[in-house]
Amino acid sequence: MYIKTSAVAVTLLQIAGFVQAATSTTKSTSTASSTKFVLADYWKSFNSKVDPLNITIAKIPQTTSLDGATQCKWYEPPANFDFKESEWPNLWETATSNGMNETAEFKRVYNAIDWSKAPNIKVRKIGSDGSLNMAGYDQNNDPDCWWSASTCTKPKQEGINEDIYTCPEPETWGLTYDDGPNCSHNAFYDYLEAEKIKASMFYIGSNVVNWPYGAQRGQKAGHHIADHTWSHQLMTTLTNTEVLAELYYTQKAIKMVTGVTPRHWRPAFGDVDNRVRWIATQLGLTTILWDLDTDDWAAGSTETVSTVKKTYEDYIAMGANGTFKNSGQITLTHEIDDTTMTLAMEFLPKIRKAYKNVLDVATCMNITNPYYEDNVVFAPFGAAAVSNTSSTASNTAASSTTIDITLPSASSASSAAVPVSSASSAAVSASHSATASSSVAAVAAVQNAESSAGIQLTSNSMIVAAFIVAAYLI
Ligand SMILES: *[C@@H]1O[C@H](CO)[C@@H](O)[C@H](O)[C@H]1NC(C)=O
Ligand SMILES: *[C@@H]1O[C@H](CO)[C@@H](O)[C@H](O)[C@H]1NC(C)=O
Ligand SMILES: *[C@@H]1O[C@H](CO)[C@@H](O)[C@H](O)[C@H]1NC(C)=O
Ligand SMILES: *[C@@H]1O[C@H](CO)[C@@H](O)[C@H](O)[C@H]1NC(C)=O
Ligand SMILES: *[C@@H]1O[C@H](CO)[C@@H](O)[C@H](O)[C@H]1NC(C)=O
Ligand SMILES: *[C@@H]1O[C@H](CO)[C@@H](O)[C@H](O)[C@H]1NC(C)=O
Ligand SMILES: [Zn+2]
Repeated sequence: MYIKTSAVAVTLLQIAGFVQAATSTTKSTSTASSTKFVLADYWKSFNSKVDPLNITIAKIPQTTSLDGATQCKWYEPPANFDFKESEWPNLWETATSNGMNETAEFKRVYNAIDWSKAPNIKVRKIGSDGSLNMAGYDQNNDPDCWWSASTCTKPKQEGINEDIYTCPEPETWGLTYDDGPNCSHNAFYDYLEAEKIKASMFYIGSNVVNWPYGAQRGQKAGHHIADHTWSHQLMTTLTNTEVLAELYYTQKAIKMVTGVTPRHWRPAFGDVDNRVRWIATQLGLTTILWDLDTDDWAAGSTETVSTVKKTYEDYIAMGANGTFKNSGQITLTHEIDDTTMTLAMEFLPKIRKAYKNVLDVATCMNITNPYYEDNVVFAPFGAAAVSNTSSTASNTAASSTTIDITLPSASSASSAAVPVSSASSAAVSASHSATASSSVAAVAAVQNAESSAGIQLTSNSMIVAAFIVAAYLI
């Protein structure tokens, strides 16, 4: 039986960390005044205690249950990340909250950006029905490359990173999971680890500081970690300062907790335009979208589980029937809850039979350095990693894990697969534009629902609320 780390040891570590932090603050302040701040080096000032190549995961007995409460019972916060509320935006509020727009570190980054070069695009408004207000926007010419209006991914403007939205390699399923981490995802991460499957994981900053152990598991397993904003709002409706804060504090959260600073991000609901892209580019971030959408988050709420299963089956059929014989795809899926993860584990074996490659976006794009830290290196596509049993990301993947894995029985949780019936016309383009309109989402309801205290439970209802409002607007 597992014995929890003694509280005394944790306290001692915290005191040690506190003293260390206090000392280093003094040091960095004095050097900051003598050295000019270089924007491209912003990530170097995150004083992380985590070595991304040597993450130790607490010995948590593996639960075979997919039940959230059962899995979270074993959650053990890591000793090398000490969350202090006063140093972060409020969880699930805009990242400028809690005075975070006025910290010296944030102002330093803000002031190092040449805002005169920012695209002159207005902050979008949310209409009374909660949807993005597109009135007056020229959707045909789409001057702002606003994905929510047009699914545009090529900014056509100097100095803005172009989006990645598909895997160019043939017969390839770009595997992406949004909205983690979460204390309740141990069985899912064990499954991916046992099957040696690597995915791109788009982590929400609030979740990373709330459940750091989950994010450390992601890094230790060699997944491609990316930024999914601090509070999961429609980014085009936020001011420049707010957009920068949403991205900056999530970069910081991921670095402090996992030891790596991402070079990729994904906007919630895909809501991005050239103004938001340009700000992301200032932090060295490239946008990753998708070209297939399972709508798995809606399973059991605004869509039936069998509808979502049918979508999975269609995308799987497309892997085997030649649709992707010349180039692959990136599929949007989520690790939100029991339903989304059960669907993932049910279909992954079928996906791997139908596609030659099932892998993270960094690997499918030959991006060997998906982080600023250049000691964490991914194998390029075409290396031994190509096989669907996948990635030799030379980061932590090979290092031993202290977890004693008992495979969860995914299939028992979800029963009969839906037979592949005649294909609906809802293939790539249809699902893509449906997503675009669904991304005309409503955070208004979410924002109203926001309470300053709400942490874990509130955050969950907020994610689901936002998605549900979005779905009703299609
Ligand atoms: C890895 O971390 C462990 C535990 O913190 C430590 O004892 C060990 O020395 C580290 N190994 C390396 C190679 O840094
Ligand atoms: C920071 O945000 C607060 C609250 O929104 C605002 O009153 C203040 O003016 C902002 N400060 C800066 C430097 O933007
Ligand atoms: C965390 O996991 C629980 C249990 O799976 C889920 O219900 C909840 O929605 C998740 N929270 C977030 C913020 O994703
Ligand atoms: C992919 O891996 C699975 C599981 O190891 C295997 O059953 C399947 O045949 C493989 N598919 C290809 C195309 O290599
Ligand atoms: C990745 O590298 C392989 C091997 O060099 C090459 O065949 C392939 O075209 C590259 N793919 C991309 C997306 O750059
Ligand atoms: C492949 O399967 C999809 C989904 O079932 C279907 O829409 C498409 O028409 C099929 N394509 C071919 C070439 O059979
Ligand atoms: Zn999301």
